[in-house]
Amino acid sequence: MHRMIAAMRILTGLQPSGKLHIGNYFGAMEPAIRLQSQGEAFYFIANYHAMTSLQNGAELRQNTRELAIDFLACGLDPEKAVFFRQSDVPEVNELAWILSTVCPMGLLERCHSYKDKVAKGISANHALFAYPVLMAADILLYDANVVPVGKDQKQHLEVTRDLAVKINEALGGEILTIPEPMIREESAIVPGIDGQKMSKSYHNTIPMFGEEKALRKTIMKIVSDSTPVEEPKPVENSTILALYPPAEHAVMIESFRAGGFGYGHYKTQLWEAYWAYFAPMRARREEILREPGYVDEILRRGAEKARAAAAPVLDRVRRATGLSE
Ligand code: ADP
Ligand code: TRP
Repeated sequence: MHRMIAAMRILTGLQPSGKLHIGNYFGAMEPAIRLQSQGEAFYFIANYHAMTSLQNGAELRQNTRELAIDFLACGLDPEKAVFFRQSDVPEVNELAWILSTVCPMGLLERCHSYKDKVAKGISANHALFAYPVLMAADILLYDANVVPVGKDQKQHLEVTRDLAVKINEALGGEILTIPEPMIREESAIVPGIDGQKMSKSYHNTIPMFGEEKALRKTIMKIVSDSTPVEEPKPVENSTILALYPPAEHAVMIESFRAGGFGYGHYKTQLWEAYWAYFAPMRARREEILREPGYVDEILRRGAEKARAAAAPVLDRVRRATGLSE
């Protein structure tokens, strides 16, 4: 059996696990938004996955909604990308089950997300163990061929490809599309205010849509050294510099090298740069918040399109497995 997939089908998921920070924006959202016109984009909110670490209904609902609003505010265009909630296509769980029948235990036992928790003495639940299988189902259910993700997800993409090959071998045919990962480079890692990778687990984040005063306060806390005001500032390993939006890097490096300004000055400038950078998105966000039902309607239409794309794939799998005639 041969199927033709005409366009590039780009798919990625984001977990609704807390307030978005600028590391998430530059690391995941902005690249996804740039890719949305390069092919058929499928972007979803991975709320089933978030349940492996969050079991509070009100919080999950709130995070899901905020992620939807923020993604739209940042430029996700629902006319270009199919934007949906993972749980609005519950068929993904059926595919996950089918994939798990060809998934060796060892493959999952080797996965970092699971191993790290066990190593820390945290008792892992089955969902955490099976997390990569559900992620594989997310990708394979939509015949995605390009999956943009951060480096931390590389192993999960390998599991996905393995499982697709195993299903095709077991069921005899080109049932599932083997996806290609599109791994973002390490250099794109945004540092947090303490200089480590920005992450909500390290409590070092700069939120994208914080209050003006709070944002300023956070930025003023960024680590710096004790180089006197008048002297040139080191540009290597400077957290402040690394946090400047890419378009302003060259000018800032020049200014650091020239000396004459203290770090307080650069932090104030950085705060102003961010405030200006996110201004259009903040305005769009306010607009979205004023439009009742807008987000629900987008997610409803997204779910409809996603289900329509999933139906023929699941149909192929169900027939091949003997689950249906
Ligand atoms: P966190 O580390 O805050 O928990 P997540 O692991 O939920 O963030 O990351 C969601 C997405 O954002 C992933 O695709 C990840 O690659 C990206 N991301 C998170 N933090 C950064 C960062 N500091 N720099 C670049 N990308 C990041
Ligand atoms: N595991 C991914 C993360 O934490 C989120 C995710 C779930 C995903 N399903 C996916 C990403 C499918 C890409 C494709 O970032």
